[in-house]
Amino acid sequence: MSVAEAQTSTDSLAGGSIPEHVAIIMDGNGRWAEHRSKPRHAGHRAGVAPVRKIVEHAARRGVSYLTLFAFSSENWRRPKSEVSKLMGLFIEALQRELNSLHRNNVKLRFIGAREQLQDRLCNRIEAAEARTAANTGLTLIVAVAYGGRWDMVNAARRLAEGVAEGKLQIGEIDEALFSEALALGGVPDPDLLIRTGGERRISNFLLWNLAYAELYFCDCLWPDFSEDVFDAALEFYARRQRRYGNTQKQLGIA
Ligand code: FPP
Repeated sequence: MSVAEAQTSTDSLAGGSIPEHVAIIMDGNGRWAEHRSKPRHAGHRAGVAPVRKIVEHAARRGVSYLTLFAFSSENWRRPKSEVSKLMGLFIEALQRELNSLHRNNVKLRFIGAREQLQDRLCNRIEAAEARTAANTGLTLIVAVAYGGRWDMVNAARRLAEGVAEGKLQIGEIDEALFSEALALGGVPDPDLLIRTGGERRISNFLLWNLAYAELYFCDCLWPDFSEDVFDAALEFYARRQRRYGNTQKQLGIA
């Protein structure tokens, strides 16, 4: 089923609520390759197919925003050859998938330190965002050269500039304004974070935005990620009580 078809026939899971925004830390590509005595890059390459599958499936389930952590600020420390092959893979995947994403009404958005990327990738990112800007289906956000601390420092700078230029009073800075200044400004916070690959940490992803996200960790390596694992995460989410600091009684669920 195409993403467009999927969006018109949203089938929800066993009565539970569907997260509006799902974020995923796609971990385990390297180990997937090593288990097969292949170079690490083979794992990254094998990680493209689940991205395609999950974009389609998330739309089918009625998710509005899907944010994928593709390359962190810290990933620049990896061997040069791995980094350069990954960048090549992003360019290739973008080129190959853009038509189909656009046809399926997906809106693409990238977050991260774009100025650190090579021009070739930057140009493709800008073109992909421009081409899909008016689409109204699933918003697919790809984090490349992204770090939560980088994001917050950037937001602080942006607000400080506003103050320095006299457009903003210090006293006007509140959580809402700060959120707006972040890379995900205008996008609701993720409701659910999925991390594959067995580690149980946030790894400098969306530090501000994940404040109230439900966290789902699974051992599955990213190239093995499937619709079933995604559904298991949705089932987990549907069973959570989200209290945002309130008591059960206040929310009438005691
Ligand atoms: C982490 O696994 C994965 C990455 C750093 C790259 C993620 C990239 C993809 C899934 C490729 C396709 C992405 C898009 C958006 C088209 P790791 O290398 O840290 O694995 P390890 O923990 O087993 O070493």
